[in-house]
Amino acid sequence: MILAIESTMDETGAAVVSLWGKGVKVWSNVKASSAEMHKKYGGVIPEIAAREQVKVILPVIKEALEKVKGKKWQEELKGIETIAVTHGPGMMGSLLVGVETAKVLASVWEKKLVKVNHMIGHMAANWIKDEENELVPELSAIGLVVSGGHTDLVMVDGDGKWKWLGGTRDDAAGEAFDKSARLLGLSDYLGGVMIEKAMKEVGKEGIEWLEKEKIKLPRPMIGSKSLDMSFSGLKTAVLHEVVRLKKGREWSEEKGKALAKEFNEAVVDVLVAKTERAIGDCQPRSLLVGGGVAANSLLRERLEKLAKEMGVSFFKPEMKYCTDNAAMIGAGAIVRGEEVKIKDLRADPSLGVVD
Ligand code: KG4
Ligand code: ZN
Repeated sequence: MILAIESTMDETGAAVVSLWGKGVKVWSNVKASSAEMHKKYGGVIPEIAAREQVKVILPVIKEALEKVKGKKWQEELKGIETIAVTHGPGMMGSLLVGVETAKVLASVWEKKLVKVNHMIGHMAANWIKDEENELVPELSAIGLVVSGGHTDLVMVDGDGKWKWLGGTRDDAAGEAFDKSARLLGLSDYLGGVMIEKAMKEVGKEGIEWLEKEKIKLPRPMIGSKSLDMSFSGLKTAVLHEVVRLKKGREWSEEKGKALAKEFNEAVVDVLVAKTERAIGDCQPRSLLVGGGVAANSLLRERLEKLAKEMGVSFFKPEMKYCTDNAAMIGAGAIVRGEEVKIKDLRADPSLGVVD
């Protein structure tokens, strides 16, 4: 049994997981977030996030332990062998809270300590199973990691070795969702969710306006042979469109929703095209997706279709395991965790997807 701790951004999570066949069973998964506090500032304030995490991390860990079988946490602790923690990438203050807590608890409770790369945790969420006989990814695999801070394509070979193939040169896909949502007046925070909502709400009028005015946002680098991506230009194109409409007094909520739809499609077109190229180049057996943007329904549908067409098995985490959570860190410890000595573990905010 592994007690996993996640604290890279504004979420504080603890989970208990174990190996289950070739996959991972989640016994408990608890999360506290300071999202509401960040809403009024239009983004995550690192100092506020870290202060909140200091307050909630121990109660969250206790709750995760007590949820395993409903016994007192001191009892449940006896079944735990290992403490797993994210050591990066993320915000320094937040990472420090998780890493230092894990080190102290591993020392006092005499448990093994395992470090997990947050991005690998996002991919490892694909090994979490609901039923024992459920399939887990077969290697080799291409992984598309799409979150608020990262957009990368990685290859996991048959021996479980990870290789970085390409990624964004500027904004991450999730960051582009967040910034564009703000420009479209949809939300100050968690833009991806709001853009997806607007996309589903847009009516006939909005769609006809897009067609009549021939509004097409760019699909940056979609034709280039490399697996590099770029999303900052797309956000700027949204800005220009909003400014143009507002100057001409043509802006309306419906047009904002129509632009949100076009934006979502543009991002998904690029992600799918690059994933298609990666599959073509590497000929993997499986395709995996992970990270907050992997919760996007259009992206999930389009990747599913692509995998079918290209004859690879497709794995996507359940929605609750897409955005940051501790169960995926427990899964990461099982799939590719590294045991460390307490004195050797350091938080690393700029850790790469393949370290
Ligand atoms: O993985 P995550 O929870 O945190 C990081 O590791 O960054 O990802 C958060 C990102 C945010 O940018 C958020 O807008 C985006 O994931 N996101 C979505 C959706 N849900 C969350 N983007 C598009 N569609 C969604 N449904
Ligand atoms: Zn994340």
